[in-house]
Parts: sequence; structure tokens; C-alpha cells
Amino acid sequence: MLQTFLLAAASTVLVQAKSTADPCTVATASTWVSSAAAHACEVNIPFDKERSLAVIDSNIKALPWYSLETWFEQSPNPKIPHNVNIGNLLAAVQKKTSTSGYASDWDFNIAVTDAWNREQDGHTLYSAACTEAFSYNLPFSIATLASSTSSLLANPTFIVNYDFPESGRDGLEDYYNSLKIDVRPYDGSTILAINGIPADLYLTELADASNIYDGLVGAYEGLSARYMRLMSRYSADTVSGAYTQEVGRFGQRAFYPGADSVQVELLTSKGLKSLTIPWSATFTAAGNTTASLISETCIDGASSSSRKKRDVDAKKLKRANAIPAHITRQKGVVRPDDQAPIRQQASPVSSSRASPGNYVKPNLTSFGHVTTLDLYQLAEHPAVGVAYFEQFEPSDGTDFDTYISGITSVLYDGINALKAAGVKHLIVDQSGNRGGYIYAGGVAMWSLFPKDLFPGFPAVFRDHNLTQAEAAAAAATQDQNSEYFYGFYRDLNYNLLINVSQFMVPSVPQTVNGVPDAYSHMFYDDFGLASEVTNFTEPPFADMDFVIVGNGICASTCSIFSSFLALKHNVKSAVFGGQPDASLFNTQFDGGVKGSEVTDFSSVLGELQLAGLDTNPAAPQPFPVNADLTLNFRNAIPIYNAADEKQDHILDYVWEQGTKHYQFTKEMYNKPQLVWEFVAEEFFGSH
Ligand SMILES: *[C@@H]1O[C@H](CO)[C@@H](O)[C@H](O)[C@H]1NC(C)=O
Ligand SMILES: *[C@@H]1O[C@H](CO)[C@@H](O)[C@H](O)[C@H]1NC(C)=O
Ligand SMILES: *[C@@H]1O[C@H](CO)[C@@H](O)[C@H](O)[C@H]1NC(C)=O
Ligand SMILES: *[C@@H]1O[C@H](CO)[C@@H](O)[C@H](O)[C@H]1NC(C)=O
Ligand SMILES: *[C@@H]1O[C@H](CO)[C@@H](O)[C@H](O)[C@H]1NC(C)=O
Repeated sequence: MLQTFLLAAASTVLVQAKSTADPCTVATASTWVSSAAAHACEVNIPFDKERSLAVIDSNIKALPWYSLETWFEQSPNPKIPHNVNIGNLLAAVQKKTSTSGYASDWDFNIAVTDAWNREQDGHTLYSAACTEAFSYNLPFSIATLASSTSSLLANPTFIVNYDFPESGRDGLEDYYNSLKIDVRPYDGSTILAINGIPADLYLTELADASNIYDGLVGAYEGLSARYMRLMSRYSADTVSGAYTQEVGRFGQRAFYPGADSVQVELLTSKGLKSLTIPWSATFTAAGNTTASLISETCIDGASSSSRKKRDVDAKKLKRANAIPAHITRQKGVVRPDDQAPIRQQASPVSSSRASPGNYVKPNLTSFGHVTTLDLYQLAEHPAVGVAYFEQFEPSDGTDFDTYISGITSVLYDGINALKAAGVKHLIVDQSGNRGGYIYAGGVAMWSLFPKDLFPGFPAVFRDHNLTQAEAAAAAATQDQNSEYFYGFYRDLNYNLLINVSQFMVPSVPQTVNGVPDAYSHMFYDDFGLASEVTNFTEPPFADMDFVIVGNGICASTCSIFSSFLALKHNVKSAVFGGQPDASLFNTQFDGGVKGSEVTDFSSVLGELQLAGLDTNPAAPQPFPVNADLTLNFRNAIPIYNAADEKQDHILDYVWEQGTKHYQFTKEMYNKPQLVWEFVAEEFFGSH
């Protein structure tokens, strides 16, 4: 019956497409439309050769800022395969752009996105606003669940996602009901096959290929982390910090999913059932015709981005004397899974039925809260506290200074109060943490380990003609607007750098994968002294009294934070979820994105402008479209011995094995409180 209806829906679209109506008017006229209708709008935007050549030229010219380019040509660690020549992939796009061209503007932009996405470093992504004008959704998510925590054998499970708290997809159920597709009866069924392929195999291949056409964008280095990204999982909302259940990339995509329906074979309580479920889409951009979508979404804001960015930074510098402006800019963060416009529509109460309440949120006594951090004492294990580091950056408008002082005081007051209440061990949950301000991660590390010289890893910038010139120009004018100013950094003994020759002029040559390359000397960020960041003078707990809880998804600043806990302090970890085949069960507690900082294209342009290099023939120019390119532009170096400056490895290639692995169960996958009580029992028993 479902299939019959799907045919009817598809033929409606065909009729509409054949009519004279503008496909973008059709696709934006109602909140929810079929994916076919949305995609018809996307591909109606014509390929523009001149504009596309300018876009690909600037992408190629931005490549020298990308610090992993030569490293990722060939991985030295077989567990972390990266074998991508990004320069060749971009050159191929350029060649096609200048010869046969692309069928549509969408095809061109997605080809650029796809090329960068092959890097799988999580930080590096090109995205054009008009390829992300729609959010694509399914009415179900997948969670891979075991019958008990003692079993590593787990099955992909069909989870109806209408009632996920804070997921903000009002009207989605009404839309599917209007198609006469009711998925609720199948909630909790085991998924045997997807599109005719055994479900675990299908999902593993999807995660392995990291293919944007199948939904994986900005992937993580580990297979299990990419697999988890497809899954529904508990997390904190990236806008407000409220608890939520992620839809997961299987059920929600920022790009057209490549097909208009998904076919699943289910094992239900009543036997086998085959369902064909169409994708739906909702418009999250501006414009209601092809022409207005082009002007209001695809082109709007292009080229003014670098100027806007500079104004903001200048204001920050004037305001904050204590914290240098570049500190507020230094970020290790990856994009949220759920698109911001969807989040902004979020309403806690479902329009179509009574809200089941926020069942993800723990029902525990709070010992402190700031937007992205929660402290609790467990009810069943009162000797165990929890610090849930949800992100290292607020997205609710909290300003930088308020946020940092919030983390500082919540950690200090909250941990002391937990200890006074009898807490002896601390669970550090970082599930789904996508990173944020590097400084926020530093504050967290120094709060837990205030006696350490520096909280984190040394880093290097990649070096080439233009970055050297930027560092030299910043040194000449002592320019505090440039991240290439040596005065912001310290040497490996944590002494402030006093000249640019200690930094990157001249550079340190390196041969990486047989390719001559060059980097700066290793440096630490200047975070001042621990006593300026925290009132702790002694670690609040011994190293062995911490345990990390994660699901493999831990990006950037989160990764630096948790790698530091594990590599420097031998903190144990409990990893939940991941690829279901026990023989492949080989999960890092932290699935990657370990490069130390991400930059965006407007900052690359801004730095060139500061150094007077914006008209250099090698300098990338502002995109003539509304698009962003983020790049991993600093490598983290996993060493602690200050004398060891051999730079022969990077943190991205360190495999960080979890101490214990568990699969989620049906009871636990959306209840962090149950996960924490379980971990407390496993690691600390009744002590
Ligand atoms: C698009 O939106 C504008 C502004 O709301 C409106 O005036 C116009 O009629 C709309 N066009 C279509 C084709 O719906
Ligand atoms: C929360 O916990 C308290 C104390 O254990 C209990 O009385 C209450 O019923 C719980 N609330 C919910 C919604 O579970
Ligand atoms: C970098 O400098 C070298 C030597 O001066 C020069 O040959 C090369 O063209 C420069 N490259 C760029 C990208 O400016
Ligand atoms: C830069 O400072 C270092 C450390 O004091 C010193 O060894 C070096 O000679 C200085 N370099 C220049 C070019 O002044
Ligand atoms: C340390 O405590 C003092 C006194 O309560 C307070 O003024 C100061 O801001 C605290 N420092 C930090 C880094 O939190």
C-alpha cells in the first residue's frame, strides 16, 4: 500500500515538473515537500561558468593554508586510512569547469564539496549556501542497539523520530500522515535490510565511504565515529544546550540524499514488513522563485564576508584587554549535525500531539550549569559525580567573556560542592561534543589539572610564501589582529616568544609523504598562567578517579581535551556505540578531528588583507557566491617532552583505544543518566 502511494506522490511531482510552474516556487510553497520537488529546484539553478571558475580558483589558492594536505596523501597508520590527493581532486573539478562544465550550479558546487569531503578530517569543508537551502528528513532514525550491555552484538533498530525533544521539525508527522504513511507502529523494530542490502553492512559501507551523496559530510577519522554520526544518539542541543536526541545523519541530511526514498525490511512484533519511505524536505533559506533564490541565497552576502569579519574582530580587541582578540577566534569546532535553521524553528512542544516531555534530560541534582556544561551527583552511586562537557562553545548568544567565566566558576564551585557532598570519582561525559573555543578547552583542562605546564598539545602552522609574509608583516607592526603574530605564542618551555624567528620566519622544512613541505616551529598558545584561569591549585581528583564517557564523536577542541586526559593523565574511558560487528569492534574513545584549529575562508582573506597581500597573484579572492570553506590550519603534535622537536607525527594519527566498549541498549540509548549509573558501577562499583 505504501508503495502504491509513493508512486502516486511521484507522479504528482512529474505533473508539477511538466507544468510551467517555477520548481523553486513549487518547492518553497509549503513547509514540507517531497525531496524530488526540493531537488528539482536545486538543479534548476543554471551552471555559471565564469562564476564557477572564480570559485574553484579560490578553493585551489586556499589549499596552502590547509595543514594536513601532504600528511593526508598517505597515512602512516593503517588503522586511520587517509590516502587523498586533494590538489588533484580540485584540479579535476577545475578542468571540468573550464571544459564540459556541469549540468547545473548545484552539480558544480557539490563537486567542490565532495572533493574536500574526501579528506575526512572533519574540519575541512566547502559548502555553498544554495546547495544547503533545504533540509532533507526521514520520519525515522536508526539506533544500533544490543539486548544487554554485556553483549557487543547489536542490531540496527527503527526509531520513529517525531517526538525527539528539541528537534524542531514541526509538521513533519502531519506531512507523512497526509501521504498516508504511518511509521509509528514500527517503532523499535529491528531493521534487517536497507535498499536490499543487510542493514549492518549497508550502514558500515555508508560510514566507510563518507560520501556526501549518501549523507556523510565533514566526517570523522574513525569508522565507528562516522557510523555513530549516522545513528540517533543523546546529546545537548547545539543552540541552547538543552538535552536532545540527535536525529542522526541517516535520518537528516543537509544535502540532497541522492534518492527520493529508502526501502527497509523490518522484523516487527508481527513478523516481516517491507516499507518504502520517501524523503521529505523543508526550505531553510531565502527566496521563493529560482531567480530570488539565486539573488537572496546563492549570491547574497558574497564578497562582503571578509570585511564583516574584520569589524567584529576589531571590536573584540578593544573590549577585552585581558584576553587577546585572537583567543576568541581560535576554534576547533565542526559543524553541528542538525542544521541551524531547523534548530531555530525548534519548539519544545510538538504541534500535532501531546509532548512526551524531555525524556533525555537527567533527573539528578544539579551542581552547576552553564550553557554547555552540566554537573551532577549520581543518585544510585552518590560517590560519583558527572561533568557533561556538551560543547566548548555556546551558540545561544552568550558572549565569550561570560561563557569563559561561567565555565571557570561552575567547575570550581561545582566540583568543590560535589566533593563536599561525598563525591570521590568524576565521570567526564563528552558524547557528541563537537568542539569550540580552544581557550574554553584549556580552562577545563587547567581546572582538572592546574599543576600542568600547559593544558593541551603543541601546534604548528603550515608555512608557505604567503603565511611567512603574514607572520613577518604582523611582527613588523606588532599587529594583534593577526593570528600569525608571534607574540600570541609560547615556546615548549612555555616562555613567550620574543621574535618571529622563533616562530615561522624562516620556516622549518619537513618532507611529508615524500613531498617537501614546511611548518612553523612548535608553539603553545599563550593562555597566561593557570592561576589566572582557575582557583584550583591542586587537581580536584586523582587521575584514576576520572573516567571519560563517549560515543566516539568528539571533535577538535573536545578531542584535544580528551586526548590530553588520556595521553598525559592515563584517564580511562567507556565508549558506547559504534560499528556493530564485534570482530571489527575496534573503537577509539575519541573518533577524531584532532587537528588543533580550524580557520574559515573569511579569516584567510582577512589575514591577507592585514598583511597587504590581498592582490598577490597567489592570494585567493572572495567567492562570488555565498559559500564557506573551513580548513584545518594547525596541526596538533602529540609530545610532552619539550626537548623533542622532531615533528615526525601528528595527533591525527594517534589511535586512542577506549578502555571498555559497550553497545547501547534500548533502555539506555536516549537516557544519559542510565549510561552514567552503569559506568559508575562498572568502573567504581559501590566505592
Ligand atoms: C515571493 O515572495 C514575495 C515577497 O513575499 C511575494 O511578493 C511574491 O509574490 C512571491 N512570489 C511567488 C512566486 O510566490
Ligand atoms: C525525579 O526524581 C525524583 C527523586 O528521585 C522523583 O521523585 C521524581 O519522580 C523523578 N521525576 C521524574 C520525572 O522521573
Ligand atoms: C613562492 O616563492 C618562490 C620563490 O620566491 C616563488 O618562486 C614562488 O612563485 C612563490 N609562490 C607563491 C605561491 O607566491
Ligand atoms: C630570537 O630570540 C631567540 C631567543 O632569545 C634568540 O636565540 C634568537 O637569536 C633571536 N633571533 C633573532 C633573529 O633576533
Ligand atoms: C578566584 O577567587 C576569587 C575570590 O573569590 C575571585 O575573585 C576570582 O575571580 C577567582 N579566579 C578565577 C580565575 O576564577
